[in-house]
Amino acid sequence: MTIAQIQDEIRALKKERDICVLAHVYQAREIIEVADFTGDSYAVSVSAQKTANSRVVMCGVRFMAETVKLLSPEKTVYLANQEAGCPMADQLNAARLKAAAEKYPGHAVVCYMNTTAEIKAMSEVCVTSSSAVKIIRAMEEHDILFVPDCNLGAYIAKQIPEKTIRLINGGCPIHAAVGAGDVAAARRAHPGALLLVHPECVPDVVTAADYVGSSSGIYDYAVKSDSREFLIGTETSIAEHLQYACPDKRFYYLDKKMMCHNMKATTLMDLYHCCAGDGGEEITMPPELIASAGKCIDRMIELGG
Ligand code: 13P
Ligand code: SF4
Repeated sequence: MTIAQIQDEIRALKKERDICVLAHVYQAREIIEVADFTGDSYAVSVSAQKTANSRVVMCGVRFMAETVKLLSPEKTVYLANQEAGCPMADQLNAARLKAAAEKYPGHAVVCYMNTTAEIKAMSEVCVTSSSAVKIIRAMEEHDILFVPDCNLGAYIAKQIPEKTIRLINGGCPIHAAVGAGDVAAARRAHPGALLLVHPECVPDVVTAADYVGSSSGIYDYAVKSDSREFLIGTETSIAEHLQYACPDKRFYYLDKKMMCHNMKATTLMDLYHCCAGDGGEEITMPPELIASAGKCIDRMIELGG
């Protein structure tokens, strides 16, 4: 079968089995083409609430499918490829968070969306890269313990100097792998290009950037910009999608090691099998966990809009 034929089968299965397909912007182009909603981790996770479909398939990583389930517990939610986890989310367990909270008593725990439902259940509010500054600024609490990404946390703390923001060690191994030396080499190779980076990058890289934003923030900025050349400092798929969207502009990887194998794990055939009912994994959680972890997602929407 060709890619186009598989995509047609998926479209037919979506209708037949009342399925809504969500795809994070780091997914492959052939998956994004058959998705009902595409966006950064915030937009893609909340979008399932807007649809009447009884089944939702997430093409992304596990914490995104879990977030969809927390927001829409009445829907049947699937992760298209059960192997697609997030190494950052796996870094933090309940015991480690408990120890950090004991070290900083009286601090409101704010978790990044890239965490397990168990961590969300222990947090006051959840944030994403596109909503973190707005939400933490809007919180009444002055003292914040932000987990687990210390690079995103350092970026937030710089934007909100009036609050005390404590951090722990943790972060995205893909974004954190790039340093100031890689930026210098990329700038030398493409002196006219604007540098657009994700706040999961280390502070030296973030400080050197012309724009800092979420995965879809970077995409939108590059599409609207009058500049012609860009160094893309986030997962490699964003540069690929941009090259199709803007053929008259040039997009370069900040560094080709910024490739997330978990985000790339889901294939079009995984999506096909999940839609056909013989693949993927249904996300289930005990009702008590849905209730307690759901509260911090509800607060994210309340404060983040
Ligand atoms: P955003 O889509 O919120 O920018 O998150 C990036 C990411 O690393 C998701 O795994
Ligand atoms: Fe996790 Fe980083 Fe991959 Fe996103 S890019 S899924 S944060 S490892």
